[in-house]
Amino acid sequence: MFNNFKIGSKSCALMVETGQNREPSRDEIYHMGLATYRDLYSKSIENPEEFWEKHSEIIYWHRKWDRVLDDSKAPFYKWFVNGKTNMCYNAVDRHALGNRRNKAAYIWVAENGDEKIITYDGLYRRVNNFARALKNMGMKKGDRAIIYMPMIIESITAVLACARLGIVFSFVFAGFGSAALADRIKDSGSTMVITADGGFRNGKIIELKKIVDDALEETSTVNTVVVVKRTGSEVTMDEARDVWWHDVAKDSPEAIEPEWVDSSDPLFILYTSGTTGKPKGAVHSTGGYAVWTANTLKWAFSPDENDRWWCAADIGWITGHSYIVFAPLLLGLTSVIYEGSITFPSPGRMWEIIEKYRINMLYTSPTAIRTLMKFGEDYVRAHDLSSLKVLGSVGEPINPASWKWYYDNAGNYRCPIIDTYWQTETGGFMLAPALGIGLPPLKPGSATFPLPGVDPVVLDENGKEVADGTKGYIAYRKPWPGMFMTLNKDPERYVKAYFEKFPGMYNCGDYAIRDSEGYFWILGRADEVLNVSGHRLGTIEIENAVIASGGVAESAVFGRPDPVKGEAIVAFAVLRNGNESSGEAVARIRKDIRKQMGPIYVPDEIHIVGSLPKTRSGKIMRRVIKAVALNQLPGDISTLENSASVDEIRDAIDSFMKESS
Ligand code: WTA
Repeated sequence: MFNNFKIGSKSCALMVETGQNREPSRDEIYHMGLATYRDLYSKSIENPEEFWEKHSEIIYWHRKWDRVLDDSKAPFYKWFVNGKTNMCYNAVDRHALGNRRNKAAYIWVAENGDEKIITYDGLYRRVNNFARALKNMGMKKGDRAIIYMPMIIESITAVLACARLGIVFSFVFAGFGSAALADRIKDSGSTMVITADGGFRNGKIIELKKIVDDALEETSTVNTVVVVKRTGSEVTMDEARDVWWHDVAKDSPEAIEPEWVDSSDPLFILYTSGTTGKPKGAVHSTGGYAVWTANTLKWAFSPDENDRWWCAADIGWITGHSYIVFAPLLLGLTSVIYEGSITFPSPGRMWEIIEKYRINMLYTSPTAIRTLMKFGEDYVRAHDLSSLKVLGSVGEPINPASWKWYYDNAGNYRCPIIDTYWQTETGGFMLAPALGIGLPPLKPGSATFPLPGVDPVVLDENGKEVADGTKGYIAYRKPWPGMFMTLNKDPERYVKAYFEKFPGMYNCGDYAIRDSEGYFWILGRADEVLNVSGHRLGTIEIENAVIASGGVAESAVFGRPDPVKGEAIVAFAVLRNGNESSGEAVARIRKDIRKQMGPIYVPDEIHIVGSLPKTRSGKIMRRVIKAVALNQLPGDISTLENSASVDEIRDAIDSFMKESS
């Protein structure tokens, strides 16, 4: 256990609480800490009405809600029934028109080192200017807009301006390709796309507007495209459809009245992979989501007014939505955001930014940590990181070795690691050590305990609770305010994918163990979903992408353990046309997937084979392929139809290993 740290003002507070003029012992800290946590936690579970009555006050309600929770149509829950509020008002106006007017909301750092400091007043002005533009273009409450942008301030402005008017936005990660973007435009029914000419990443330009143009060839709903000039790359502007951001978002003193929406009106849709080929559009509420994200950040990280927070994710993922945009703004914090890659132009980039901006809280992913770990300690040790107080981790299980490296080197043995377990669907952290309400002794690799309001359980295949120390499925027995409300246009799938396996409970889709001290250990996905560098990718989605590249008859995809990315994508493909060489086919498949789906979907290995093992009924046996490829025993293959294909897979892997060594 690693618990020999002191946390700035927290230890002073504890000195007062011990009533003695001495530092509390380690035992005292944890004893006190956990007592506060336990008290709050049990109140949240035993008396949720009273608990949420108090904690909903973290935001401003234009009309106070009547009831905390309406569960009459479970699992379609409604939180803070009949409450009226506005996310943008809460995130921006409250501060800009109050005491934080001149406080920095964001310190934006460009990949080339340029910086921009945006105060709350500056953000307010920008958001109003863009909200006015949206209004002038006819956008109104309930309309849908796609935001497909790089990590620039206008992305945040766009999100907030939509929220101000009640426009439901769907942010699409700028690493997605044109087919993935087109799918999301269609499913969300968006009439507008907000984008940029391009974005900078690893010193290269990603031509976003061109990708939008390609996607719009496939769709028919969009009538306006707003384009931010970021890179200055040449773009084609369709006069009837495309406008420049700087032409429409003009400075004006006129403020735009926030639209007071219902607590259950949707704030955004965010697509995430599931077990079918079609991504799921998780629809998030306004009131419950706001209350949940703000409280969870406070509980888990306990930021002080003058702290600088850096969530090193991309706005396009849920981590960015909740903890770059909404929660820090709701709490009136100052965030540092970074446009580019954390290893560009050098592997010391992340540490350099922390030193330069005296960052106090860093929140990043195990993949980022493992990537930086590979470059060795010298890059970290070259920088003064003494401003750091707390470190956070998200997106994947953090293995103890990376945990320890992060703790020793980034934190210099002083900073607790807040390992946050949560999902796109949960809106905010679910399990995490709660520095703000009582930090438990940490165990590297465990996300520790549930936050208030979260009621997790570990179950066997039949929904029976397993004994401590036994692996099972993690599920939640109670709804929580930040939970998504449904899947866009697919309420049946919402019920089926999440609430059917364990009736009355939310099935997370992960394996977990609870140990004898009540700590939770997340072991990874329990379904056909891969976690590559903290990104959720469905195996069937990738198989479809391999097939869609043309010339491929069938494909099987699975994940193999990878020391940096968590999992790497391995694809097997059977070609339709025997004339193409394997090398040509692999290069073509890679190129097509990159363009259509985006670089994160490109398999690390593609093997061309003559056939794939199948059952007699013709189902591809992915389990067998994976087992053979990973050199494990394939298990029961008595139903296997064409056993020669197993040998072929073994040969393909053997020759791949020889080539790559
Ligand atoms: C995984 C990201 C272990 C998990 C916020 C989950 C984690 C999926 C952790 C959600 C963690 C996320 N420890 N595993 N701290 N955090 N995961 O929707 O498999 O992109 O189901 O949300 O990431 O990924 P998503």
